[in-house]
Amino acid sequence: MASILHVDSSPRGDRSKSRKLAKEFMAAWQNLHPDDVITYRDLKQTPVPHVTEDWIVACFAPPEALNPEMAEVLKFSDDLVDEFLAAERCVFSVPMYNFSIPSNFKAYIDQVIRVGRTFTEEDGRVKGLASNKKVLFITSRGAEFGVGSPYEGWDCQEPALRCAFQFMGVTDIQFIHANGLDMGDEARKRALDEAQSKIQELVSSW
Ligand SMILES: Cc1cc2nc3c(=O)[nH]c(=O)nc-3n(C[C@H](O)[C@H](O)[C@H](O)COP(=O)(O)O)c2cc1C
Repeated sequence: MASILHVDSSPRGDRSKSRKLAKEFMAAWQNLHPDDVITYRDLKQTPVPHVTEDWIVACFAPPEALNPEMAEVLKFSDDLVDEFLAAERCVFSVPMYNFSIPSNFKAYIDQVIRVGRTFTEEDGRVKGLASNKKVLFITSRGAEFGVGSPYEGWDCQEPALRCAFQFMGVTDIQFIHANGLDMGDEARKRALDEAQSKIQELVSSW
């Protein structure tokens, strides 16, 4: 029995392709692992606050200096970190926005990367504290990013996500990209079919 965190970030509801694909993955996973415990978070329903000056002060204060007001400022972040650390596997659905990630998922990352909780420093080097988990990103993109396509080399989404989660010590990171979703019906169908078969493959090997 494993604990799985599933987070959706698209601001679109039922029209969201990334949500749909993540839902398919989770349904297939639950079919194979009915006893797993799923925690679901929807960044559309429960928006993540941006980092503020008070948050930065509280975040970097030594534990003995933390007063109740500062603890309150960190409460939302603490809950996100607890939820993330408790999960053995995480499934994040993330659309591409302006070649990277939507601001709500960046806000999520900013709240989860926490000194003393998800990373620390040892001998002057950063050490991630969230190494014991597998992370899967299911992304949706309007354009193509393959070799020879107009946007080859423009994908800043996968590197941004990899860096942030590797920084927290995660080494097992996988991606399922659905590319070309806004390039007409034929391209969309092909992209969704490909993503769906990758989902079915990964469900049995993850
Ligand atoms: C504000 C905005 C910015 C976008 N930027 C890009 C982009 O840089 N590259 C791209 O390929 N698609 C881009 N798209 C298209 C989305 O990635 C695509 O429609 C995707 O399916 C959205 O995910 P969702 O269906 O889960 O909401 C953008 C869409 C929006 C609304």
